[in-house]
Amino acid sequence: MKHKNIVILTGAGISAESGIDTFRAAGGLWEKHPVEQVATPEGYAKDPELVHNFYNMRRAALKTVAPNPAHEALGRLETGLAEKGGMLTLVTQNVDDLHERGGSKAVIHMHGMLTSMLCGVCEHRWPYFEDAKADMSCPSCYVQNTCRPDIVWFGEMPYQMETIEAALAACDLFVSIGTSGAVYPAAGFVQMARALDKDTLELNLDPSQGSHHFHESRHGPASRLVPEWVDEVLK
Ligand code: APR
Repeated sequence: MKHKNIVILTGAGISAESGIDTFRAAGGLWEKHPVEQVATPEGYAKDPELVHNFYNMRRAALKTVAPNPAHEALGRLETGLAEKGGMLTLVTQNVDDLHERGGSKAVIHMHGMLTSMLCGVCEHRWPYFEDAKADMSCPSCYVQNTCRPDIVWFGEMPYQMETIEAALAACDLFVSIGTSGAVYPAAGFVQMARALDKDTLELNLDPSQGSHHFHESRHGPASRLVPEWVDEVLK
């Protein structure tokens, strides 16, 4: 095997064929819902009910979608690499749970998860699958009006950055799948990998903003590109 220790970053493009809207396409989420309103701490402070309703809608939509062959191929890759003495670190910017439902066991959700709630006071987090309301009480500290979606908003620090940076330093290949490369720090992982002399590969519908940084870029739908590439790695 050429590559045994692989770090993968996924974005909205991997879930697009499952029926989840991406962010920056025409008609995408940020065209229908202003970022400042629904994805910033300031927007939440101004109108928590509106913000909860936005994430309630997206959480409810998870019940109507299923993982596609790209998610399933990454689940297969995790197991296949482990069997050959290798390792996969799967980092996603997605807040859906389709990687887990596609068979991935260890997923780093650097932008949080729709199926998790966070107390803004005591920082307790807990699994959450139903509609949330702004006046809910935290089940740990019992303070009211403090429960927010466990989502990293603009201006906040993504989760597990130290773990991700350590994985990039230890890997021999970095792969980016279905992300526009518009949002940092994730968009900078390819430059970090290049600085560390790692191989880099992009799998995306079309060239991303950072496409030129990758050693190789393959273009097409994730449901085709990802299973094909996983077969190559595991053969
Ligand atoms: N297969 C592969 N790639 C696809 C597919 C597909 N079927 N459909 C769309 N894409 C690509 C698009 O070409 C685009 O480059 O996926 C990318 C999606 O880009 P964005 O909508 O910008 O989503 P993402 O990169 O995940 O956004 C990053 O921005 O607003 C924040 O927090 C949000 O995590 C998100 C972050």
